[in-house]
Amino acid sequence: MTDVRRWEVPGRVNLIGEHLDYNGGPVLPIAIDRSLTVKVRARDDDTVNVWSNLPGSTKATFSTGVQPGEVDDWAAYAAGMVWSLVQDGHHFPGSDVVVESRLASGSGLSSSAALTCGIGVAFDELFGLGLDRTRIAQLAQRSESDFVGAPVGMMDQLAVLQGQAGHAILMDTSMSPPTTTPVPVTWEDDGLTLLVINTRAHHALADGEYAARREECERAAAELGVEWLSEATLDATVRLTDDILKARTRHVLTETARVRGAVHAIKRRSWVQLGTILTASHASLRDDFQVSCLELDVAVEAALEAGAVGARMTGGGFGGSAIALLPLDTVAAVRERVEARYASHQWPAPEIFVAHAADGAHRVA
Ligand code: GLA
Repeated sequence: MTDVRRWEVPGRVNLIGEHLDYNGGPVLPIAIDRSLTVKVRARDDDTVNVWSNLPGSTKATFSTGVQPGEVDDWAAYAAGMVWSLVQDGHHFPGSDVVVESRLASGSGLSSSAALTCGIGVAFDELFGLGLDRTRIAQLAQRSESDFVGAPVGMMDQLAVLQGQAGHAILMDTSMSPPTTTPVPVTWEDDGLTLLVINTRAHHALADGEYAARREECERAAAELGVEWLSEATLDATVRLTDDILKARTRHVLTETARVRGAVHAIKRRSWVQLGTILTASHASLRDDFQVSCLELDVAVEAALEAGAVGARMTGGGFGGSAIALLPLDTVAAVRERVEARYASHQWPAPEIFVAHAADGAHRVA
C-alpha cells in the first residue's frame, strides 16, 4: 500500500565506556548492521495499533492519550514514546505500526532504544513534528525512564539515531545534551573484525540492579562533592570510606581513562592495544562494577583463549551480549570455543555474528 512508510533502525554495541553515560563520562558505541523495521500508516482516529514479532503478545492497542501503567511488556516502549511525544506538546493522529525486530529483546543490543527511536523518527517524519535527532533521543530516554521505569542514560538512543557506517560515535555525556563526534574505525582494513556473542542470558534494566548502580554512583559523587563521578580525581578511591562506593568509583575513573586510550589506539590503528583496553574494561565491570555474569565471563574468556585480541561485555550487563575484536581468520575457532564452553555448561547455544558499524535510523520506503 502506498501510504505505508518504512524505517530501518539499527541496534548498537558499545565499544567501550560502560556505565559512564549517567556519570558524565565519554562513551564510544557503534550502530550495527542488525536492525529493527518500523512500518507506519496514519489512521483517521486516535487509536494506535502495534503489531510485532517480539516475544509476548503480538498486538497492542492504546490511544494517543496513553498514560504510564496502561501498557506492559515490549509494547510499553512503543506506548511510552507516543506518551513522550504528546508530553512534549506534539499532536498527531493514531497509527497502525508494525515492528519487525532482528534484535533479540534482552540481548543487550538496544532493541528497546531501536523501538522508541524508530517510532520517534517515523512519527516525526510522517507527521512533520519538526524534531531533530537529539530531541528524539531525549524524548526516547524520557519514555524509558518515566513510562517504562528504566532510568537509562542517552547512549543507546543517540547511537541508534546518529550511527554512521564505518564509524564509532564518541559521546561526551557531561554535556546536556551529550555531544557526538564520529570516529572512523578501520580494523577491517587490517584484517580484523568485531564479533557479537549474545549469551541469551536475559538482561533487563527495569529490574532494579541498573538503578542501584546508578544510585551508588550518585551517592559517591555527592560524597566527593562533584557533579559527575567521572570528574572525581583518583584520590577519590582513598577518600571514600564505603568499599562498594570505592569500587564503583574505581570503575568509573579507570573506564573514563580507558575510553581515551581506546580512541588513541583506534586513531593509531593499534589493534592489540585496543584489545588489551577492551579486556581490561571487562575485568573492571566484572570486579569493580559487578554487572557481569558467568555467561558473559565465559564468553569473554573463551574468545580470548581462541585468538581474540580483546573482548568484553557490552551494554548494561547482567546478561546480554559480549563483543570480541579478532583477526578474521580466528572467527571460526572463537565461535567453536565459545559454543563448546557453553555446551559444557549445558547452557543454550549463544547467538554469534560478525557486526559492522552501520548508519543510524533512516527511512527506506
Ligand atoms: C544500558 C543503558 C545505557 C548505558 C548502558 C551501560 O544500555 O541503556 O544508557 O547506561 O546500559 O553503559
